[in-house]
Amino acid sequence: MRSKLIAGNWKMNGSLAANQDLLLAIAQGLGTPSCNVAVCVPSLYLAQVQHVCASSPIAWGAQDMSCFEIGAYTGEISASMLRDFGVRYVLVGHSERRQYHGETDEQVATKVQRALAAGITPIVCVGETLAQREAGLTADVVKRQLAAVIHANGHCISEVVVAYEPVWAIGTGKTASPEQAQEVHAMLRLQLLAASKQADRISILYGGSMNPANAVSLLAQPDIDGGLVGGASLKANEFLSIVAAASQ
Ligand code: PGA
Repeated sequence: MRSKLIAGNWKMNGSLAANQDLLLAIAQGLGTPSCNVAVCVPSLYLAQVQHVCASSPIAWGAQDMSCFEIGAYTGEISASMLRDFGVRYVLVGHSERRQYHGETDEQVATKVQRALAAGITPIVCVGETLAQREAGLTADVVKRQLAAVIHANGHCISEVVVAYEPVWAIGTGKTASPEQAQEVHAMLRLQLLAASKQADRISILYGGSMNPANAVSLLAQPDIDGGLVGGASLKANEFLSIVAAASQ
């Protein structure tokens, strides 16, 4: 049985004051959730989030990390540095990293290796653009993105979390229908099972305009094991509603 995970992706939003308010409101409304809950925050705020969330059920994560271990990589943050701040998860290969920072499948695969070596669970993001979907390339694209990670990580693949995020649904208010998302999730599940017998325990999250109104039907799909939530994770009441939907 896979446990559900709702992970917020704050992206480049927040301030010391706003984070404090948001985290306290989430912690207060959360009680004892029956699913896993995490927030992936700008790395600069990890110390704050660690402090505020230490005795709450909220886990915390980063939004990216270096594919190098240590050394002359100005501006980079390593997996072991994240580990120093109690980070449980790290987003890897988010489409905004691939699109604006030219991250390649190989770099994503290396980051996954480094995260696992540091004892951090990578949330590996895959997804197609609108043009790719319209050209009938969805399966090719997401399989290629995942194959690079499987290839580099062998049987350790069962330690990752995967997030399917159609690029055309991110921040646009357009969501994949539950059936569209389930179709891709089932395909990813088969690809993972072919790589590892343990793959049945890998959580595959859906991301892309998940909100309180669509969360229940998305999360009811057999291969949708949670959500990676951007915009709605910045509002405590919306985030809590999505967590409640995952706890049903
Ligand atoms: P969104 O973002 O929920 O605002 O669409 C999701 C994501 O990019 O992880």
